[in-house]
Amino acid sequence: MSIKRIALAYSGGLDTSVAVKWLGEKYSAEIVAIAIDVGEEKNYEAIRTKALAVGAVESHVIDAKDRFVREFVFPALRAGAIYNDKYLLATALARPLIVEEMVRVAEATGCDAVAHGCTGKGNDQVRFEVGFAALNPGLKVLAPAREWGMTREEEIEYARVNNVPIPVDLDNPYSTDTNLWGRSCECGVLEDPNNSPPKGAYEWTVDPLDAPNEPERVEIGFECGIPVSLNGQAMDPAPLVAKLNEIAGRHGVGRCDVLEDRLVGIKSREIYECPGGTVLYAAHLDLEHLTVDKDTLEFKRSVALRYGQLVYNGLWHGTLMPHLDAFVESTQRNVTGEVRVRLYKGNAVVEGRKAPKPLYSYEMATYDKADLFDHTAAEGFIAIWGLPTKLSAALERASK
Ligand code: ARG
Repeated sequence: MSIKRIALAYSGGLDTSVAVKWLGEKYSAEIVAIAIDVGEEKNYEAIRTKALAVGAVESHVIDAKDRFVREFVFPALRAGAIYNDKYLLATALARPLIVEEMVRVAEATGCDAVAHGCTGKGNDQVRFEVGFAALNPGLKVLAPAREWGMTREEEIEYARVNNVPIPVDLDNPYSTDTNLWGRSCECGVLEDPNNSPPKGAYEWTVDPLDAPNEPERVEIGFECGIPVSLNGQAMDPAPLVAKLNEIAGRHGVGRCDVLEDRLVGIKSREIYECPGGTVLYAAHLDLEHLTVDKDTLEFKRSVALRYGQLVYNGLWHGTLMPHLDAFVESTQRNVTGEVRVRLYKGNAVVEGRKAPKPLYSYEMATYDKADLFDHTAAEGFIAIWGLPTKLSAALERASK
C-alpha cells in the first residue's frame, strides 16, 4: 500500500511516540502528529516538540476543550446518556471529537492516511475507525499498536534503539484516560473485580470517608437543558465543568466502579471519576422532572439508554444519532431554571429547584385551602380506570 503522509493521533506517551518512528519506517511516509487537548492537564507544548523530536514532520496541538463540552458532553447530558447504568461516557464522548479534528487536520495538511494508537481489544479502535469511515472514507486507516505485535519489553527496546524517550511514569500500575469530563482507570489490581480499588486508583475525588464534615451547596442554572451558570454566575461550558469537578471532587462525589460490557464482546472492570458530571446529571434530571410532562419523560428514558449505547459503541456519526438529538432537543424547550444540590461525603443530593415554566402547580398539589383540584372528579376517574381490573378479578373469583 503506497502511503505518503500519515496523520497520527499523538498523545506524547510511549505507544504513539514509538508509532511515529515505526510508521515512518514501515511506510516510508511523513508523519503529521496531532495532539488534541480535551482537558487532560498535560504540557501540550512539550508534547508538540516531542513529536518533532521523534521524527514527525509537522506537529499540531488543538485546543478542543470548549468544543468538547459544548458539542459532545452537554448534548449527552441533555439526553441523559449513560452506559451500563453508571458510566457517564467521558472517554467515549471524546473520540468522535478527536476523529473530527484528525480528519480536518489530515485533509488540510495533505495526508492520505490517519493512524491511532489503540490496541485490538478496546472500544476506542472501533470509535476511531467508524468515525474515519463516516467522515472521509478515502483516508487509509492504520493502527500500528494493533499491528506491530511487540510485547511491552520489545517496545521499550525499540524505543531505546531508536532514541524515542521513555516516559518516567511507565511503572504506573493502571491504564488511564482523562479529559475534562472524567477520568477512566483500569488494569493492574483492578482486573480482579473483587478487589476494592486501592486509594491511589482515584485521583480526582477524595475518599468520601475523608471528605469535609460540612456539606457544601451548589446552584446550577440551566437554559433549555444546558448548564449556563454556577452559583448564580454565568459561565462558559468548559470552565463550568472544570470548576464543578473541583468542588464536587473535594466532597468525594462522582466515583463509580463498573463491570462493563465492551463492544468487542468481553466484560471488563473499570473505575471512573466524573465529579462535575455526576452533579450536573442529578441536577438536570431533577429539573426535567419539574418542567417536562410524564409521557415525554418516560419515553425519553429509553432514548437516554439508546443514546448512551450509540456513544459507547462508536456510532456518534451514525445514522440514528441526529434523530435522537432532534428528539432530545425538542424535549428541552422548558428545561430552564435553577437546581440546588447539596454535596456531602460522596453524595450529590438535590435540595431545591425552580423554573420559570414549571409543570408543578401549587394549586393542584396543595392540601391547603388554595386547592383547586377537583376532588369530585376522582370518583368517576377511579371507576373507569379500575374497570378492567374489577371485571377480570370478578371472573377469577367466579371460576374458583
Ligand atoms: N472503558 C471505557 C470506554 O471504553 C474507558 C476506556 C478508557 N481507557 C483507559 N485506558 N482507561 O469508554
